[in-house]
Amino acid sequence: MNPPYGSWVEISTAALEGNARAIRAAVPGKRVIAIVKSDAYGHGIETAMEAFCRAGVDAFAVVYPAEAYRVRKAAGDRAKLILVLGGALPEETPELMRQDVTTVVADAAQAKAFSEAAKAAGGKLRVHVKLDTGMGRLGFLMPRDLPDAVSVAGMDGLELEGICAHFAMVEPVSHPQKAKKQMEKFFEAADAIEKAAGKKLLKHVSSSRASLVTPEYDLDAIRPGIVLYGYGAHAAFGRYATRPAMQWKARVVQVRDVPEGTGVGYYGAYVAKRATKIAVASAGYADGYNRHLGNRGDVLVGGQRKPVAGRVSMNWICIDLGPESDVKPGDEVVLLGAQGEESVWAGELAEHCGTIAYEILTGISKHLPRIPV
Ligand SMILES: Cc1ncc(COP(=O)(O)O)c(C=O)c1O
Repeated sequence: MNPPYGSWVEISTAALEGNARAIRAAVPGKRVIAIVKSDAYGHGIETAMEAFCRAGVDAFAVVYPAEAYRVRKAAGDRAKLILVLGGALPEETPELMRQDVTTVVADAAQAKAFSEAAKAAGGKLRVHVKLDTGMGRLGFLMPRDLPDAVSVAGMDGLELEGICAHFAMVEPVSHPQKAKKQMEKFFEAADAIEKAAGKKLLKHVSSSRASLVTPEYDLDAIRPGIVLYGYGAHAAFGRYATRPAMQWKARVVQVRDVPEGTGVGYYGAYVAKRATKIAVASAGYADGYNRHLGNRGDVLVGGQRKPVAGRVSMNWICIDLGPESDVKPGDEVVLLGAQGEESVWAGELAEHCGTIAYEILTGISKHLPRIPV
């Protein structure tokens, strides 16, 4: 294995498939809309699509049309629903229709523009109405904009097929009223919109966390994201468990014996407290290895957990191996993943960086190859 850059990302297709199967099995009779935006949370849309299709998932959501077309290309007609969650412009309408991609509509002016574009293209654009029931982001603001949302049902050129919303917070123990209030607004609006449409619409509100802790909000479909990639669903918690699918690996490029008192890297921010061996590994912040991990994070090398010594450079990190190590150039360094008995997962890295696992996964640079294993 000689990657074009110093590190590479391995994607376990068995983990992705198993995760999707576990989630599907937890919601019998419901649709699972797999969230594959942002290159499937950094895992690679095409690799994720294969695994999820094998698990019997037939609905996918992304943010941008360009991602939707990649999903269509990878899944063909195995994808019965490809939903764009807010990043489509009305100019895109003919291509959305040609590739049978559905988009959300989030306000009256936008819905009209899609309707006009679809009429001009001589067909129907499949849409879901996106309601803001308390997220405070995209959507028809409930209850103020309910008449506008209802009007979508009667717009020429649009085939209204679904209604969705997104939770700002699902904390049934500490904040039991928050999600409940959002759902009250949702149900009221959904009734009125379905009446105007004269048919049942696909209703979906639950992303990963809600799908784990509030099964009463499964409605017709759930929209899991992070759990598909193995985070947030532990065995002892919720209705299903999933496991991480991504590992990120680099190589040791040099090992040196250094005397006590040696400063390591920029500004000598790490000083060897004793004579030790310092390894240089082939990944840095340009690859997405966050600078906050300098002097904080651990990596796995030689089957052991070892500290990142000093600041993270653009293309390298230094690792204090300790005086006795037999690690040598060429050895694998696990930045994210497992080696021997040890593991370092995105939650741990996120804690050091003051962020969330989502940002760690999506922050690993696109230039690194994603290798299905
Ligand atoms: C509208 C919408 N639905 C579902 C998801 C999936 O969220 P999660 O990864 O927490 O399951 C997201 C992610 O940000 C989203 O924006």
